[in-house]
Amino acid sequence: MGKIGIVFATDTGRTRRIAKLIAQKLGDAADTPININRLTAADLAPYRALILGTPTLGDGELPGIESGSQSAGWLEFLPQLDDQDWSDKTVAIFGLGDQLKYPDEFVDAIALLHAAVTACGARVVGATDVAGYTFKVSRAVVAGRFLGLALDQVNQAALTENRVDAWLSEILPQLRT
Ligand SMILES: Cc1cc2nc3c(=O)[nH]c(=O)nc-3n(C[C@H](O)[C@H](O)[C@H](O)COP(=O)(O)O)c2cc1C
Repeated sequence: MGKIGIVFATDTGRTRRIAKLIAQKLGDAADTPININRLTAADLAPYRALILGTPTLGDGELPGIESGSQSAGWLEFLPQLDDQDWSDKTVAIFGLGDQLKYPDEFVDAIALLHAAVTACGARVVGATDVAGYTFKVSRAVVAGRFLGLALDQVNQAALTENRVDAWLSEILPQLRT
């Protein structure tokens, strides 16, 4: 069985740090995390299982130059998926946001990434409970659950490691099928 790929975009480095934490916890099961701005769609083709990380920037947007990131991110990469078939892939998404400053668009980018990968056929796993967060609206909430793992390093950093541990134990068996 191949390794799990971990890919992230970031503006100020927090999402990279969480990607590294996840990699550390997965040990030999995962490859070293890579910034999406260093990859092409062809680089991801060999993976059957991917963990994708994203902050939400702008007004509930994916990271990229247009949404104010310092470097390229998911906005620049995603058009490459237009002609990709990801129906062999299982994907789990984690997203960073700030629920107090952006309560009407908390971790919206999870939903945008979810839409992009499901459009090319990927199966997405790893929805999580909204309990424990304080926000008003999020596009990432569907049927009462986040479409991935929501993390808030600004206001709830102390909760992150337990959230990551619980999420990984849930998604690992699914990423391996
Ligand atoms: C200009 C700007 C816009 C942001 N917009 C949102 C937003 O719409 N929703 C949200 O949940 N968080 C938003 N955030 C918070 C970031 O997602 C959060 O700070 C995150 O930890 C940044 O991760 P990074 O260090 O990987 O870039 C915004 C932050 C900045 C600086």
